Amino acid sequence: MIEYRTLRVALLGAGSVGSQVARFLLEDGDELAKRAGAKLELVGIAVRDPEAPRDTDLPKHLFTTDADALILGADVVIELMGGIEPARTLITQALDRGADVITANKALIAHHGPELFELAERVGAQLLYEAAVAGAIPIIRPLRDSLAGDRVNRVLGIVNGTTNFILDRMHTLGESPEEALRIATELGYAEADPTADVEGFDAQQKAAILASIAFHTTVSVDEVQREGITGITSQHIRDAARSGYTIKLLSVCERAVTESGEAAISARVHPTLVPNDHPLAAVHGGNNAVFIEADAAGDLMFYGAGAGGVETASAVLGDLVTAVRRHVLGGRGLSASMHLQLPMLDSDRVLTRYLISVEVNDQSGVLAELAGIFSARGVSLATLEQSIPVQTALDAPAADAAEQPEAEGSVAPRATLIIGTHLATEGALKAVVEDLRQSAAVRAVTGVLRIERGA
Ligand code: HSE
Repeated sequence: MIEYRTLRVALLGAGSVGSQVARFLLEDGDELAKRAGAKLELVGIAVRDPEAPRDTDLPKHLFTTDADALILGADVVIELMGGIEPARTLITQALDRGADVITANKALIAHHGPELFELAERVGAQLLYEAAVAGAIPIIRPLRDSLAGDRVNRVLGIVNGTTNFILDRMHTLGESPEEALRIATELGYAEADPTADVEGFDAQQKAAILASIAFHTTVSVDEVQREGITGITSQHIRDAARSGYTIKLLSVCERAVTESGEAAISARVHPTLVPNDHPLAAVHGGNNAVFIEADAAGDLMFYGAGAGGVETASAVLGDLVTAVRRHVLGGRGLSASMHLQLPMLDSDRVLTRYLISVEVNDQSGVLAELAGIFSARGVSLATLEQSIPVQTALDAPAADAAEQPEAEGSVAPRATLIIGTHLATEGALKAVVEDLRQSAAVRAVTGVLRIERGA
């Protein structure tokens, strides 16, 4: 019979993920030992309040409020408390003592990853964080290890389940944004304060992490452009559907080329029109998916649960087995390599496509004027669709279209134009939108959305 050595595991936090990790460790310890090559002893669980109600029944004697004492002598520390402090200090102390650390803390990795990885590298320990991005979906290890011999060109992620849930309900059930958010909150997808999700902060942190690994470059959260879904109306959803698109909040990380021909990268989060035949358009409900375009591997998609206690615990336990195997085999832990340090492309130089909806006066010469605006900025038109409302003359502009004051005495009938562009720089496209807003022919610019540009 194999004699396994025993490794001491300290757990920080017993929320929805932590309590499931503890349960697996206690119930499936023998099986995990066989997979990892060492016995795992859960030496304690640090929590703020040992009496707080929990998802699972865990032995009371494991609880402690003294996280500092708990991590002393631990071989592996699993941090599932969330937030920056005290998680950052505790992880630093644990790594300093040579313990491996596993965390699901995306904010900490996104904001303080470089200093923590540097410390881990220095002491030869491992810092693993599969659960920090897209919950149960294996995405960190595939990017860092499985694709280590390939060149990743783009990463497109639906990495926020709450916003996917809301947008999906708006598309499939015709719900208003307010109604969809209310249901997301009722079902526990959205927090009482949904700002981090709906304004894109959560997806921004995840994009910084994905871009860093994909491009071997430290990408800070501030370098990721961010736009949430709060500007998306039911009309945008209808216009998107009519043009064959589904709106998704995408984290887009891509390689680019500077004007002087140098390699660069960009990372951004924004609502995006995804063609209905793209695999990302079929990601429904609160699910996540990450689509990767790589030189040799081609297109890959990773799909599944992006949150949830038991689902996220799966990713944490996978990291635990990886960490324990290294302990058993010996040798240093290695972080993802950050050797390229590619520059970020200036946001105005990012190439993208827009779908712009404008309400115009339905008069001769209007189309020519609009075409002139696009052409003056060097933006080429790809598609154009016009619809004329049944009641035309004297119609007031739509309620969400009241950007430009009605010209006094204006009696012109109105029409809606939906204009799709070819690839152009973000700077040129923004200038076009500004020119459209200033144009006397345009009553209102009612929608400006980026189109997923394809490989
Ligand atoms: N709030 C996140 C989401 C889950 O809605 O996907 C945690 O990252």
